[in-house]
Amino acid sequence: MKGLILSGGKGTRLYPLTFTSAKQLIPVANKPVLFRVIESIHDAGIDEIGIVVGDTAPEIKQAVGNGSRWGVKITYIHQEAPLGLAHAVKISRDFLGDDRFVMFLGDNVIQGGISRLIEQFADSSWNSQIVLTEVAHPEQYGVAELDEEGRIVRLVEKPKVPPSNLALVGIYMFDHHIFEAVNAITPSWRGELEITDAIQWLVEQGYDVYPYIHRGWWIDTGRPGDMLEANSLVLEELQPHIDGYVDRESVVDSRVTVEQGAEVINSVIRGPAIIGRNTRIVNAYVGPFTSIYHDCLIRDSEIERSIVLEHSRIEALPARIQDSLIGRHVVITQSPVRPKAIRLTLGDYSNLGLL
Ligand code: TTP
Repeated sequence: MKGLILSGGKGTRLYPLTFTSAKQLIPVANKPVLFRVIESIHDAGIDEIGIVVGDTAPEIKQAVGNGSRWGVKITYIHQEAPLGLAHAVKISRDFLGDDRFVMFLGDNVIQGGISRLIEQFADSSWNSQIVLTEVAHPEQYGVAELDEEGRIVRLVEKPKVPPSNLALVGIYMFDHHIFEAVNAITPSWRGELEITDAIQWLVEQGYDVYPYIHRGWWIDTGRPGDMLEANSLVLEELQPHIDGYVDRESVVDSRVTVEQGAEVINSVIRGPAIIGRNTRIVNAYVGPFTSIYHDCLIRDSEIERSIVLEHSRIEALPARIQDSLIGRHVVITQSPVRPKAIRLTLGDYSNLGLL
């Protein structure tokens, strides 16, 4: 089998962070979401991976390279514009050939990897398998209707009256018949070739499409709140280790990771949390569910349940930062008026003086 990762798109819901960089490279627990996707595919025994890229291609190529770091071979497939998930499949024909493949959205994070579902599909003669999970609000998702034998009969996008509470997760498996489907369908009202239309086409032509019901958590990191949620869930599962320096005055609990070259001076860190390479935490409090990436400085400030990207500096804040996603090279320092709480989504290179 081969792997196909979709890493084009515009990422408009994560503006301003994604004005300047690819959303799939935003780190969750200090590792870019895209790297986690590559690892899950590799762990499932697949080593030939195509990555569909758009405007952010140079940045993605620079970060991922040829895949040798993971023991996989990466082929880049250029998509001229984000014309839909089914369009991404269409332009990947040469790479995929007649092989069965798994398609994974490059901004999705799933608990427990994908080995079991890949195994199930590889052992079957099904034409497609789609991953579903139970959700509380199916009306906000693509939802599947199953027949008595558990086969997919219909997919509906954001239904007013959902036929089930099983939503589509961003992982799909196909054989070569999907190319007939993506060539047969036409763009939707939003101008995209929709993968749900392609799957519906397979069903209508009598091809076998079966579900895999995923029981753990799954996050589509489309919006800032989803990023923070994914960060919390992944931090919960991280094996903590201290490779950096923690001084005697600091209190760092057992669920904290301090990466190499990082320094924690006279501070309190409550896990689960991670402090990135060469980052300095000085006279500060870092609370649960926080990831501070590489080369940052947090001084005389408090931060909790947040993600801070590389080279950012937070100093002398009068109130705790919480539930925030802070870009690269951001500077936040004290200004005269004191706010009681801070909730921010800041773009790269922002420079913020608080009230
Ligand atoms: P989406 O989250 O549906 O789209 P987007 O990334 O453009 O985000 P937004 O809605 O905020 O503007 O895309 C899911 C994944 O698929 C994501 O990793 C981008 C990728 N993708 C492509 O590679 N090509 C495409 O044509 C589309 C629509 C998405």
